Amino acid sequence: MDKLVIEGGIRLKGEVTVSGAKNSVLPILAATLLTDEPCIIKCVPNLRNTNTMLKILRSLGKNSDFDKGIVNITSTKNLNFTADYKLVSTMRASFCVLGPLLGRLKKAKVSLPGGCIIGVRPVDLHLKGIKSLGASVSVESGYVVAKANRLKGSHMYLGGAYGSSVLATDNVMMAAVLAQGETIIESAACEPEVVDLAEFLIKMGAKIKGHGTPIIEIEGVKQLYGATHTIIPDRIEAGTLMIASLITKGDITLKNVLCQHLGALIDKLQEAGALIVKTNGSVRVYLKRRLKPINVTTLPYPGLPTDMQAQIMSLMAVTPGISVITEKVYPDRFMHVAELNRMGAHIQREGPHAIVEGVRELTGAPVMASDLRASASLVLAGLVARGETQVSRIYHLERGYENIEAKLQSLGAKIWREKE
Ligand code: UD1
Repeated sequence: MDKLVIEGGIRLKGEVTVSGAKNSVLPILAATLLTDEPCIIKCVPNLRNTNTMLKILRSLGKNSDFDKGIVNITSTKNLNFTADYKLVSTMRASFCVLGPLLGRLKKAKVSLPGGCIIGVRPVDLHLKGIKSLGASVSVESGYVVAKANRLKGSHMYLGGAYGSSVLATDNVMMAAVLAQGETIIESAACEPEVVDLAEFLIKMGAKIKGHGTPIIEIEGVKQLYGATHTIIPDRIEAGTLMIASLITKGDITLKNVLCQHLGALIDKLQEAGALIVKTNGSVRVYLKRRLKPINVTTLPYPGLPTDMQAQIMSLMAVTPGISVITEKVYPDRFMHVAELNRMGAHIQREGPHAIVEGVRELTGAPVMASDLRASASLVLAGLVARGETQVSRIYHLERGYENIEAKLQSLGAKIWREKE
């Protein structure tokens, strides 16, 4: 296993290009199961998670090649309806093969998922949605088994205790595009990645309206076709790099950014005192004076993303004053608190809140990554800490950030990989 070693204290400067969105590409690759025709997906980030999804597709009968950011999905002969535990358990997003398999084959057997350890992550909304389309669902030996003679469009409400669900919306949308008649999903997730999936499905021949709003309307069609699609930029990678600029008092320009997907984050960073200059497709992030503490609450889109909570916490950990961070999507997503405190942060967790008393300085330490975004927060803390920080278990980081150490190096950071 590798670890990342960071020598902190360098102001990051320069330009860097943001990769395609992890949370778009995974369901979009799954959506290629909806046709036997070839598909071409561009701007695909080379991530551990992307390769896992390609392996799952291969196990289901779909061949592909992946080179220079382009995935070519070749035509299919026979699709298999079972997604194996060994693959699905390593990545939660693989559960979104359930919808397209069910849509195509009217049966699917998909292992219950694994993924980041960020609290209980149920799949009840996914199952509620596909049951509403007329499928019978049972759980057998750790697998969800869904069957239907035919899928029939229906009107459903998909909100849960923590609001809408991104992957449940994706899953149900992918099953409904081949169902008979009209489906209306109320309390659908509005995330840009759901919109990107819907746009791809429309290119494949699906009839979808309202994506990007809480009510999605789908008119089932008989068949979908091959399509070519370019993945949107990763707003979470962009946000993480924006914070890398601020935490090091640097001056970074990000290219391939859609600022309209970053509204809540940009608003909060500006409230803290960041200077953010948006130009067509790029954004410059820098500081002229000290940041101020801020209170933030994570919410489903267009609210502040939970996937930015840990990175904002690192920034507030070195911003003198008190900040309160409230997590409303995954109330237990605070594994990074203890690790940041090992670096000298003063953070106290109280239920879904973290009270951050900003300190003047963090000190480098060996720390352990527990999930994808927690890993990013530790790297950010390492960039500003005095001395050397060693972040172990970086396979979490590799699941969601393409070439992150090369990108940070290109901005001047002293960061390198070593064997543990
Ligand atoms: C997606 C993202 C992940 C992000 C999350 C929230 C992908 C591949 N991953 O995950 O990076 O952190 O959205 O923005 O897109 N819930 C239920 N029942 C369900 C499903 C979800 O109660 O059946 C709850 C979850 O426990 C959580 C909330 O709903 O509290 C939102 O989760 P959800 O949007 O489903 O997250 P994912 O789609 O798994």
